[in-house]
Amino acid sequence: MNSSSLTALPAWQALKAHAAVLAGQHMRDLFAADPDRFARLSFSFGPIRADYSKNRVTLETLSLLAELARARGVEAGRAAMFAGARINTTENRAVLHVALRNREERPMTVDGVDVMPEVRSTRARLKAFSDGVRNGQWRGATGKQLRHIVNIGIGGSHLGPMFVADAMKDLQAPEMSVTFVSNPDSAQLAEALAKLEPAETLFIICSKTFATAETTANADAARAWLTARLGETAVAKHFAAVSTNVEAAKTFGIHPDAVFPMWDWVGGRYSVWSAIGLSVILACGYEAFDQLLAGAEAMDRHFETASLEQNLPVILALIGVWYADFFDAPAVAVMPYDHRLKLFPFHLQQLDMESNGKAVTKDGAKVETKTGPIVFGGGGSDSQHSFFQLLHQGPRLIPCDFIIALKGAGGPSRDLLMANCLAQTEALLKGRTAAELASTPEALRPHREFPGNRPSNTLLLDELTPYVLGMLIALYEHKIFVQGLIWGVNSFDQWGVELGKELAKSLMPALLDKPAAAEGLLKARDSSTAGLALAYLQAKAQQ
Ligand code: F6P
Repeated sequence: MNSSSLTALPAWQALKAHAAVLAGQHMRDLFAADPDRFARLSFSFGPIRADYSKNRVTLETLSLLAELARARGVEAGRAAMFAGARINTTENRAVLHVALRNREERPMTVDGVDVMPEVRSTRARLKAFSDGVRNGQWRGATGKQLRHIVNIGIGGSHLGPMFVADAMKDLQAPEMSVTFVSNPDSAQLAEALAKLEPAETLFIICSKTFATAETTANADAARAWLTARLGETAVAKHFAAVSTNVEAAKTFGIHPDAVFPMWDWVGGRYSVWSAIGLSVILACGYEAFDQLLAGAEAMDRHFETASLEQNLPVILALIGVWYADFFDAPAVAVMPYDHRLKLFPFHLQQLDMESNGKAVTKDGAKVETKTGPIVFGGGGSDSQHSFFQLLHQGPRLIPCDFIIALKGAGGPSRDLLMANCLAQTEALLKGRTAAELASTPEALRPHREFPGNRPSNTLLLDELTPYVLGMLIALYEHKIFVQGLIWGVNSFDQWGVELGKELAKSLMPALLDKPAAAEGLLKARDSSTAGLALAYLQAKAQQ
């Protein structure tokens, strides 16, 4: 990592000067000046075509951004990750989720030890276990086949598998159901369980640490529900677990054959490729999961070997840095025009904001620039009828990612999706001038004008197969990593989530108490927190 001043770099200064020139230009003019702009600024890798042409960039911009990436050691950072170096410095860990989708014979090492034998044996166990559940060899305590999967986890142990299972729903065995529970509000688990037959239900406790309060609370509640109906011994047949803390899972009563390991070199938000994907494997079969891994592996090879100038995740990352730091864009909006990808924005929120929502560099200095953007989004068509107003006419610049597949089910409805997706990117680009509103009453013109010049990337997928889905997720993972390298932050820790956890833990004893006793416990806290806690206790006392 290059720890010298980011903004003092000649490449940064050159970009700053270049941004000042481009700020005065409209993308309409850039397109008019170059009929080949789309061909020049769209890049394909296998079944994904990334159109970067509707951005406030020229070839010169991309080459200056690539220079910045070189100056920030992106190539060395990328090599260090694949080499298993401990690039997560604040936790002294390697970052090797790429090993999870390494399907070749290639060794991948941490401290000289090849992790692949363990990865391969875990994959083999996942396949055997999931095949057993799906074909009825592993049955519930009453002898019934298990066909309802309940994944209990939160954060990366929830969002990744929930998104992938939803995106691959077409491949789910019709007799299987899969439900995801993360919220410690017992209403969520109760709602899920109300529909399920205990004798046919398999719970998967997904927790890297096996110590996350929300997950252990839900795991205990699920266990109580099951044992009340099927007895204590049923736990061994109706629970599986994925964790680095294998012993805690076994102590919970889970059968050793149903406990799958994870490793400290896999971050929670990068863990869907590990046994954390078990719910997906059970629902869709191991072959589909293997295809997901294969797609991610293909993107890994591309990311690892393609030049910065031709590298899909690198370009996506650099364009993001361009807007965050040179155009003051606070956010990024991601809109899949495919119902199966509707949960992608939620997965991306954790992936991106937990990775790059940082204000200190790896060496502990304050960052000099903006870092990770606010990420939001939703299914394209629905979003058009909610927050697109702000994208088109709000005063802030919000760069957008549009994602759509060329082929897929749906017939004419696909035409409507495509028309809308293209129309939105076109409207963002072109806008509508006052001159184009000649027939509109003058007083209304300012309201009906669109500034345009609003950037978007379009990711055109051949077809949304598990393989392409794997590529897509890995594309964003690497994008986020590259941005972290440019900004000089550690994209793999998440200390920002700790303080709230600690304070909640220390509040709990007060909230269990009577108001009078709680007053003492709350004395040291600010008057707002204490006052709100007391209001809760009073309401509780009256119930
Ligand atoms: O609180 C944030 C976090 O640590 C995430 O990074 C992680 O994905 C989530 O909690 C769940 O953690 P675990 O898998 O250990 O239960």
